[in-house]
Formats: sequence, C-alpha cells, structure tokens
Amino acid sequence: MNLTKDVLLTLNRIKAIACSRLRTDRAWNKPTNAIFEMSSRCILKCPLCNTGGLSDRFPHVRRGDMSFETFRAGLDKLLPELGQVLLYNWGEPFLNKDLFRCIEYAHRHDVRTQMSSNMMLYTEGNGLKLLDSGLTKLIVSADGLTQESYGRYRKGGDLSKVVAAVENMVRLKRERGTGFPLIEMQFIVFRHNEREMDAYRRSWLTKGVDAVNFIRMSYMSKEGRKVADDMELAPVHPDYQPHHPYGKMNRCSELYYHVSIDYNGDWYTCCFPSGDPAYRVGNIVRDDFWSVWNGTDYRYFRRLLRTRRTVCEHRETMCHDCVGIFPENAARRYWA
Ligand SMILES: C[S@@+](CC[C@H](N)C(=O)[O-])C[C@H]1O[C@@H](n2cnc3c(N)ncnc32)[C@H](O)[C@@H]1O
Ligand code: SF4
Repeated sequence: MNLTKDVLLTLNRIKAIACSRLRTDRAWNKPTNAIFEMSSRCILKCPLCNTGGLSDRFPHVRRGDMSFETFRAGLDKLLPELGQVLLYNWGEPFLNKDLFRCIEYAHRHDVRTQMSSNMMLYTEGNGLKLLDSGLTKLIVSADGLTQESYGRYRKGGDLSKVVAAVENMVRLKRERGTGFPLIEMQFIVFRHNEREMDAYRRSWLTKGVDAVNFIRMSYMSKEGRKVADDMELAPVHPDYQPHHPYGKMNRCSELYYHVSIDYNGDWYTCCFPSGDPAYRVGNIVRDDFWSVWNGTDYRYFRRLLRTRRTVCEHRETMCHDCVGIFPENAARRYWA
C-alpha cells in the first residue's frame, strides 16, 4: 500500500471515529469497508440461509450476479477512502464469471478483498486466478470433519470436494511462494458437530491453512429459528450459543463505516436486508454518493440510533427492525 493511500485511510478513519462517537446526522467521512454481493444465488441449501434452504420464504428478494461494470462504477464512488471490500453477502461468489476481474480491480486500487465460499465450484484454474487477482483472504465454509456432520447443514455439499480444493489452494500458494490469499477454515458450531472441534482444528492446521475459526450459529430469521429448533441445531457448548443476527448491541456504527451493495448496485445500510427492496436506500451506480450517504434516509437512520426512538416515523428501516438495537420491537419482518 502506498503512503498517500495510507494517509487518506487514516484521515478518513479519524473522521469516521469522530462522527460515530458524536452520533452526527451527517457523516463527514466515507465508508471504510463495503460489501459487494458478487452473486445472490447459490447451489447449496443450507437450512437457515435465506438464499439456500429458506429461499422460497424470501420471494421478494431479487437475485443475480454483479457485472464487472457495476462493481467498477460502485467501487470508484468509494475510492480512494475504501480499505476493504467483502465479495459475498448472501450467495456464492464463485458463481460470478466476473469475480476475478473484480478482485483484480480492487487489488489494483489497494483495497483488501475477502470472500467466503462453500468451494463446490472450485477448480485449479479458479485457484490460479484467485492467486493472480490478488485476493487477500479466503474463508472456507465447512462445518464438520465427516460428510455426515458436514452435510447436515451444508445440504448438497460434498466434503471431499472442499478438502481437495483447499489442499490444492495450499499447494498452489506454496509453489508460488506467496502467503495470499490467507485461508481460514470456518466452522459453525452446532449440536451435531461440536465434538469434532479439536480434531477439526488439528486436522486443518496440519494441512497448512492459516487459521481455523469457530463461530456461533445465527438464527438468521424467525423462520430460521423454527428450522433450527426442529433440527435441534443449537449446541450444548456455552461459548457457542446461537444468536439473533448481531446479538444484543448497545450501539451500532455501520451507518458511519459501512455500505452493503447488492448484485445490481442497490445500496443497503448493512448486510442483513440486502435484496429486500423495502430497505433499499439508493443505487451506487445511478445515484450521487453524497446525496445518499447524507440524504434524508441516512440522516433519519443516524438520528434514530442516537435518540433510540422505538416508533418509526419516517419509513420502514433496517435499523428500526434490528433486534440487536431495538429488541422491544420484536422486529416485524425478519426476526423472532
Ligand atoms: C450466506 S454465506 C455466503 C457465502 C458462501 N456461500 C458461504 O457459505 O461461505 C455468508 C456466511 O454466512 C455463514 N453462515 C451460513 N449460515 C450461517 C448461520 N446459520 N449462522 C452463522 N453463519 C452462517 C457462511 O458460512 C458464510 O461464511
Ligand atoms: S453455501 Fe452459503 S449462500 Fe449457499 S446456502 Fe449455504 S450459507 Fe447460503
């Protein structure tokens, strides 16, 4: 990263910290990180996922793949202050044919890139393209050490393909003598896999991945909660008890640091409602950046979080429906 970019990122971060601490209506900084949804489609059917097992419960969510032109136009509006972009939200990034061009474009502009994948579409050719494009971090979703435990959540997934893909990626990195992308194995802790945690960590670290991360299961939605209960997914381990999206929070700073862009350029305040038109605030390609970032909606949302008004005066907002901030609302659309 060059010095000018470093200085810009630091100045922007200082402004973001000041605005979020003071809870200003207008943000004088630009977002420090963003989600760009490469694809809101998937080939697996994970039971709690709005794109997988629960996709028919979310028919209002539009689905597709982001074009390179949309990515470039959107990223340009956030540059040069943007430090990191996540190339996934609710779908499988490898489905997008322009994925590698997008990573390469972000890398060229000194933006760190991260993607999470189920690895079902991995090929050695894709692995080489990931290395060439400059991806910073690859999260691999695999929650189990045997096909039986893994397949209970990753419906339609094949663990032997994940293992072969990651081993191949580790080998390609070694052959190239590069540390990137960092490879992190991600394991959602469920009742049916919690006994495998130690063996899983040992096994993957021996294979040469950079990190193993155990995470708590999210119910994702009120429909997800019912499915999780029916499938008895909640683990016994006290440190990994399931949570509502975001858990219970005293404050949220997403409105100062983050934007979430759907595959078609539609702009949302955070990752959760992506694709649900009721919560859309603009379109990153068509709209002027500052007119949205400090427009009527955003100023209202920031005020809402400052005053913590539980009555929605302006219009339906994600913040108002967020069970993390307003548990008393027992949120209307998504949460139990
Ligand atoms: C919706 S997925 C999209 C990316 C990709 N398809 C994948 O699964 O890695 C985004 C992230 O959510 C995680 N995820 C899926 N279901 C989850 C759940 N019930 N609780 C917590 N995280 C979950 C996935 O493992 C992944 O890291
Ligand atoms: S692999 Fe990812 S996007 Fe696909 S259904 Fe599972 S969690 Fe959802």
